[in-house]
Amino acid sequence: MRAGTRAALLGALLGLLVVGAAGATTAARQARLGADRAMRPGSPGSQEDARAAAALAWRAQFESPPPPPWWRRLWPWAAPTQRLIRVAPLEPHSGSLAAPAELRLPASQLEAELGAGLAPAVNAVDPRDDAFFSYNSSAMTPLVPLWLSWMTDLGRMANRSHGLDFSTAWRLSSYVAISYCNASSIATWNCSRCGGISAGFTPEAVVFDELWDLQGYVGYSAPLDAIVVAFRGTDSHSIYNWVQNMRTWRTDLALGYPGAPPHALVHGGFFTSYNGSALAANITAGVQALRGRHPDVPIYVSGHSLGAAMATLCALDLRLNLGAPDVRVYSFGSPRVGNQVFAEWFEEVVQVHWRFTHNRDIVPSVPPGYMGFYHVSREVWVVDLLFGHTLVGVCDASGEDQACHNSVCHLGLCSSLSDHLLYLSEMYSPHPMGC
Ligand SMILES: *[C@@H]1O[C@H](CO)[C@@H](O)[C@H](O)[C@H]1NC(C)=O
Ligand SMILES: *[C@@H]1O[C@H](CO)[C@@H](O)[C@H](O)[C@H]1NC(C)=O
Ligand SMILES: *[C@@H]1O[C@H](CO)[C@@H](O)[C@H](O)[C@H]1NC(C)=O
Ligand SMILES: *[C@@H]1O[C@H](CO)[C@@H](O)[C@H](O)[C@H]1NC(C)=O
Ligand SMILES: *[C@@H]1O[C@H](CO)[C@@H](O)[C@H](O)[C@H]1NC(C)=O
Ligand SMILES: *[C@@H]1O[C@H](CO)[C@@H](O)[C@H](O)[C@H]1NC(C)=O
Repeated sequence: MRAGTRAALLGALLGLLVVGAAGATTAARQARLGADRAMRPGSPGSQEDARAAAALAWRAQFESPPPPPWWRRLWPWAAPTQRLIRVAPLEPHSGSLAAPAELRLPASQLEAELGAGLAPAVNAVDPRDDAFFSYNSSAMTPLVPLWLSWMTDLGRMANRSHGLDFSTAWRLSSYVAISYCNASSIATWNCSRCGGISAGFTPEAVVFDELWDLQGYVGYSAPLDAIVVAFRGTDSHSIYNWVQNMRTWRTDLALGYPGAPPHALVHGGFFTSYNGSALAANITAGVQALRGRHPDVPIYVSGHSLGAAMATLCALDLRLNLGAPDVRVYSFGSPRVGNQVFAEWFEEVVQVHWRFTHNRDIVPSVPPGYMGFYHVSREVWVVDLLFGHTLVGVCDASGEDQACHNSVCHLGLCSSLSDHLLYLSEMYSPHPMGC
């Protein structure tokens, strides 16, 4: 038994409430239907038109602000004002500020963010800039009691982390941070993030699909002696809108992969953006070319945010359609991709799968369980404690361990965007100065 009946009932009730309150407007619903129609075979118009329409509908799901709740029509003056803030993490080793990521947030969201490790900081370039915050990952205090209860739970001390290689995770998180760089600097592997822990990498193919705004690359890592695939997430400006829109998504597409159980469903948008963009064809071609030269090495598939969803689907693709025997997934800040049948099937097909979550990261809490979604295991919850210490919680095998990331999400929804942008000391956003 994975989910208690009580939780399911509560979820269903909440679902009714939240779906009612969200009151998806006709525009948003049409964008969704547009995407759905375009992604099914046999749609009218040329295949190129259908692909372009699907890409536009998908981009609209990211970039358009979410539909306002129904009550806002009665109180239009209650509309949230958006603020632009820049968030820079303190580099844990040097203590200096890293390059900032920009976020556009409603003022109410900003307050939630400020409670969780964000502090105003002076912008060295423009001291009058009051939109500049630093992110001190050592300043998380409310989680300490939770950590204590966690560590004294003997069940949790069982042999769960078998096979989790933390130095591999760290190196992969650095490769994923590089996936946010400019395609040309990835192809020549001379970006500013490409040295240090990331040195010794030979890129094979860099795929940037402008229409879908997706990017990934594949290459050979000498230190890991492995083929590595890495996908970036979306522009940090649109994360907030994307997360709000994801709250109304449903599992609606059965994957056409060999051996897929009939009831394994994912969100069609995830699959279409992987398969309909250049990612699937060009990444698998790159993997094939590398397998010719390195036939017996494992393939690590990794990604952040939307890129983590792409990594989950890509790993299945490599296993089932390419017949690669040893595919391993390390994902960072992944949304839920499909339903529970999908999650269990994924875990059978892809033997090694670690899904990292961080503090109160907003993205792993969507799309919600009450819309049919269920996380793949095995979650590794990274929690920043006081004084630079970090708790690495290896969670149970269910995928939805209630004592991990789920435990800090109020009513199932977590709130932090800054936690989403920082994983294992790597900042996941495009570098403003290029990289
Ligand atoms: C970060 O937070 C910790 C804990 O609150 C504090 O000891 C440390 O001085 C802070 N670092 C900076 C650079 O503000
Ligand atoms: C953990 O479990 C694996 C097999 O599942 C076993 O090979 C390994 O030795 C165990 N480690 C410890 C410390 O018990
Ligand atoms: C990558 O950066 C180079 C120079 O920094 C620039 O000329 C080029 O347009 C950039 N490419 C993309 C895809 O942004
Ligand atoms: C990276 O390498 C390319 C080609 O070798 C070169 O044109 C470019 O200037 C280099 N960029 C940096 C930042 O060194
Ligand atoms: C995908 O690969 C094809 C064939 O090599 C190439 O023509 C195309 O430009 C690639 N697309 C992207 C987005 O990299
Ligand atoms: C994925 O894309 C390929 C090539 O564009 C296409 O042939 C295939 O039918 C797609 N798969 C599904 C399940 O739609």
